[in-house]
Amino acid sequence: MNILILGSGGREHALAWKLAQSKKVSKIFIGPGNAGTVNSGTNLNLDPGNFPEVKKAVLDNRIDIVIVGPEAPLVEGIHDFFLADSSLKHIPVIGPDKSAARLEGSKDFAKDFLYRHNIPTARYKSFDISSLKEVPQFLSTLKPPYVIKADGLAAGKGVLIIDDIHEAELEVAAILDGKFGTAGRKVVIEQFLKGIEASVFIITDGTSYKLLPEAKDYKRIGEGDTGLNTGGMGAVSPVGFADKAFMDKVTRQIIDPTMKGLSADGIVYKGFIFFGLINVDGDPFVIEYNARLGDPESEVIIPRIKSDFFELIEGVAYGDLDKRGIEIDNRFCTTVMMVSGGYPGDYNKGLPVTGFDLTSDCMVFHAGTKIAGNDVITSGGRVLAVSSYGDSMKEALRKSYRNAAQIKFKGHYYRKDIGFDL
Ligand code: AMP
Ligand code: GLY
Repeated sequence: MNILILGSGGREHALAWKLAQSKKVSKIFIGPGNAGTVNSGTNLNLDPGNFPEVKKAVLDNRIDIVIVGPEAPLVEGIHDFFLADSSLKHIPVIGPDKSAARLEGSKDFAKDFLYRHNIPTARYKSFDISSLKEVPQFLSTLKPPYVIKADGLAAGKGVLIIDDIHEAELEVAAILDGKFGTAGRKVVIEQFLKGIEASVFIITDGTSYKLLPEAKDYKRIGEGDTGLNTGGMGAVSPVGFADKAFMDKVTRQIIDPTMKGLSADGIVYKGFIFFGLINVDGDPFVIEYNARLGDPESEVIIPRIKSDFFELIEGVAYGDLDKRGIEIDNRFCTTVMMVSGGYPGDYNKGLPVTGFDLTSDCMVFHAGTKIAGNDVITSGGRVLAVSSYGDSMKEALRKSYRNAAQIKFKGHYYRKDIGFDL
């Protein structure tokens, strides 16, 4: 089997690393990949958003299955593009079609889905330019802070949490006026939920599903969860509070009703569903759905899958996931994200990275790197995720930090307090 993984981050490196361990996989291609993915396969110079380019790579390299890492190609319809093309339609795409990917691509669609299927989520209302004048009235029914979300994909910047009601009104108007481009044609305003977050994942063939390990992501740039939001500064798995009682509620109140809801709505979902949850006094609520795996969550949950991950991929591809097994590693896995100084604001690229040879007993997943001659250089804000196993979270973190300290690039930064709240 030849596999093509689309994307270039730590998630895609972790996927390639895991699939390279499968006896059933012959060749792995990553498009475009990074300086780390070359250790698990062959990088292809392509843009996952350019579907004709993807098609050419698939045919040239006799690809049997395509795994889509990031959300944008899914929301733009890469799965539908394959189904509509006579030379591609027999090649399974792991990732939902355009209509199913609306769970991530439109917050308004996701909230409506959650409400219609009685899945716990924050109270909300959606607005567009024609209902702008009703915003103050709805805000007045909520307690601060106010959560304001651009409807569409906004590169992780589309959620604002604002204390002042007048500022909230101004922000809604600014988003509807194009602050986030077309992503802000609609705005969701919702009740703020207070609790601790967790990321829960399933893989589904549209009929049955398998629960993957859960994780907790650390989104803020600063220690103690302060400062700007980032793509994620570290992650741990398992998550202490996600015990059996909590996960039973997640299954009964969230995952099963989501599967039933998709089926009732006539949506066949093939791929990963990422449930962004918040634990409010022991009860799970959905904050968001994503149509993909998380990053940096993948860098801790994929290493905790002990069995052959390709079995699950094949199960989705052939629609027999119920016949496939999954075995989870009981150990903890943690990851610490090393980022460029200045991130998530402006930062430098092209900085040489050294010290890989000094690391041991860890997995260094590349997130924003590329190869330049004999060097690995930075090519993004989030550069490397240093993942380790341990019999406790502390032990795993100790290893991640010991190894992160060996890797150097000018102005690098990482949070020293991953796992602090667990
Ligand atoms: P998102 O971009 O949808 O992942 O949202 C970014 C972050 O905003 C989430 O990870 C939460 O920390 C926060 N958030 C979103 N919705 C809510 C809510 N209803 N209550 C509290 N926090 C929220
Ligand atoms: N780590 C959060 C995300 O992947 O969206």
